[in-house]
This record gives sequence, C-alpha cells and structure tokens, in this order.
Amino acid sequence: MADLLTPFTARSITLRNRIGMSPMCQYSAYQGMVNDWHIAHYGARAAGGCGLIIVEAAAVEARGRITPHDLGLWAEDHLEGLGRLVSIIERSGAVPGIQIAHAGRKASTQRPWDGGKPLNAADGGWLPIAPSAIPFGEGYPTPTMMDDDRIAEVLFAFSEAARRARAAGFKWIEIHAAHGYLQHSFLSPISNQRDDEYNGAFENRIRFLLKTVAVVRDAWGETNPLTVRLSCTDWIDGGWTLDDSIALAHHLKAAGVDLVDCSSGGTARVKIQTAPGYQVPFAEAIRRETGMATAAVGLIREAHHADQIVRDEQADLVLLGRELLRDSQWAQNAARELRGKAGDLLPPQYRYTLEP
Ligand SMILES: Cc1cc2nc3c(=O)[nH]c(=O)nc-3n(C[C@H](O)[C@H](O)[C@H](O)COP(=O)(O)O)c2cc1C
Repeated sequence: MADLLTPFTARSITLRNRIGMSPMCQYSAYQGMVNDWHIAHYGARAAGGCGLIIVEAAAVEARGRITPHDLGLWAEDHLEGLGRLVSIIERSGAVPGIQIAHAGRKASTQRPWDGGKPLNAADGGWLPIAPSAIPFGEGYPTPTMMDDDRIAEVLFAFSEAARRARAAGFKWIEIHAAHGYLQHSFLSPISNQRDDEYNGAFENRIRFLLKTVAVVRDAWGETNPLTVRLSCTDWIDGGWTLDDSIALAHHLKAAGVDLVDCSSGGTARVKIQTAPGYQVPFAEAIRRETGMATAAVGLIREAHHADQIVRDEQADLVLLGRELLRDSQWAQNAARELRGKAGDLLPPQYRYTLEP
C-alpha cells in the first residue's frame, strides 16, 4: 500500500490516510457563523477522501479577524454551526480539525475579492493589536502595542476558543502561528521590537506562543492532538529563520505539541521563489532534528509527489490547499493513481455503484 494512503495516529486520533486539507479562509461568514457554504465546501472535501480536514482560521476574538467575514470561535453562538460542520466531516470518514487564530496587525482588511486593503472605520474596520506599534506595510494602520492586560485577554480568548472547539466536537486543533499573524509576529524580530519579557532573546520572543500552547492544551485536554502551524522562515535577512523554527520545535515538543505544520512567510511582502514542494525541506528538517511529526504544505499537486514525501520520511502528513479547491476528490483520484482504486475513500453512497 502506498505510504500516503496509510493511517496516521496522534494521541487518540487515527486518520484514514495522510492527506489533509490545509486551512483556507473562505471569508464567507457573517458574525463568525458557519453557513451553508461552509457545510457544502468542507463536506465535499471530506466525502472526497481526505483523512483530515483543517477548517479555516477561526478568530478567537472579533478583533483578531482578518476580515469581517472570518469564521469565529469567540462566542457560544458559534457552537451550533460548528457542530454541524463537525458532523458532515465525520459522516464522510474524515477527522474534523480547526485552526484557531488571531490576525494581530494584519486584522481588519477587506476580503481578497473586494481588494484586500485595510478597512477604515467608516467601512466597519477596527484598530488591530500587535506586539509592537509597527504597521504591516504601507497603508496599514499602526497597531496598538499589547500591554500585559491585552496579552492576558488574548490568551484567555485562545483558551476559550479551544474549549469551544472541543465542545463543538473537533478532534484536532491547530494554533495559527504563521503568515505574520499575531503569534508569528511575536516570534519575528521584524515585527516584535518590545523591550520586556516578550522580546530580546529568542526565549523571550517564543514566550507568547508557549503561553498560548499551555492555555490551549489545558482547555483542549490531553486526549486529542494539538498542532502548531509555523512560518519556518520569514525569507528576510534579520528575520525568523529555519534554525529558529527547529529550536522552537524542541520547546513545542516539550510542551506536548503533537505536530508542526510547516509553512513560511507572511511577515512582510517579499518575493519568494516557489516550486512544487518548496516548503518540504522545512518539514523534513524539523522532523529530522527534533523527532516531531510534521506536515508538509505548499504547491503539492501530484499524487506520486505527495506519496514520495511520506515514503522518504520528509513529513508525516501532506496538506493540500489550492489543489483541493480545484478538485474536491483529489484524495480518491490519488488512491486510483497509486493503488488502482479509490476503495473505502469513496463514501458507501457512491462506492456500491462505482466500485462494486
Ligand atoms: C484561499 C486561501 C485561504 C487560506 N487561508 C489560510 C488560513 O486560514 N490559514 C492558514 O494557515 N493558511 C491559509 N492559507 C494557506 C494554505 O493553507 C496553504 O498553506 C497554501 O495555500 C499553500 O498550499 P497550496 O500550494 O497547496 O495551496 C490559505 C490559502 C488560500 C489559497
């Protein structure tokens, strides 16, 4: 059997294969609520054979949304819709995961298809918060530097979001610490220029993320996997590096994190040379240096390529983003390519007639 199609276990959870849906914002929620779009979108990818579905960045507080249309986990009202999402994903044999997130200084923007620009107050925008009062880029507002009270507030919001994710029935949780959003902006010396216990030495810059991990694990419990998405490099001189990510991963492992999801970039607009699997070396290095499980993501499109990544032990899971937007049945097609049939990745409703 192809390695991509073998199960993967973390804590009490076993994925039916190593194909995961990478978290992808749909910017389609109103007041953070799940609606029919989310049910159809995630339901199709779960029925399409993925082992793991990581639901898009869900904001832990309203101030932490990228756009006014982000999914939310900041209120009890969100639970019912999220529960429906869990149900459709599980019915199709996939494990329901969710990414919990705070956009930090990159909050309060228009949806990409409305221009993606910072939103001003007249159009419903709000003032973002960040480790330091440094705007993300030209045209972005100067964020409010977080004082101790705000840091405590956000940590509490993460813990409440984890509790709600669990209550909604999610079995896998990912803390978003990548792409220049709040947790990543504490890690990177480009965006964190504080002069307190959260900056200066490496140990100080990782403190906020480690506190986040601790409160989330506490609320989430020990039974199910807790993972972290990192930007493994800023791709900027003087920024966060792969060596920093490896050193951080040792701390995450000691804190009981089960897997590192290896992405990159997002601290500033930089031109990155991309190619199929361009971020795989990060997943491979962290896995090799720390013994932690990793997920590889980024321009992975071909079944044989994904399979090779797992077989060569470069990563334990392969996550797909845009390719799953193109083809919701990517996992079934990969199974046909790698082993001749989709088999139990087809829902019984289709299997009995397509592959009797
Ligand atoms: C529409 C869209 C929305 C995204 N939203 C998120 C998100 O919510 N959280 C996140 O960590 N990454 C997000 N990403 C990044 C993807 O998860 C993924 O890492 C990236 O697209 C690279 O993988 P791919 O080449 O397979 O698309 C998003 C990407 C796209 C295309």
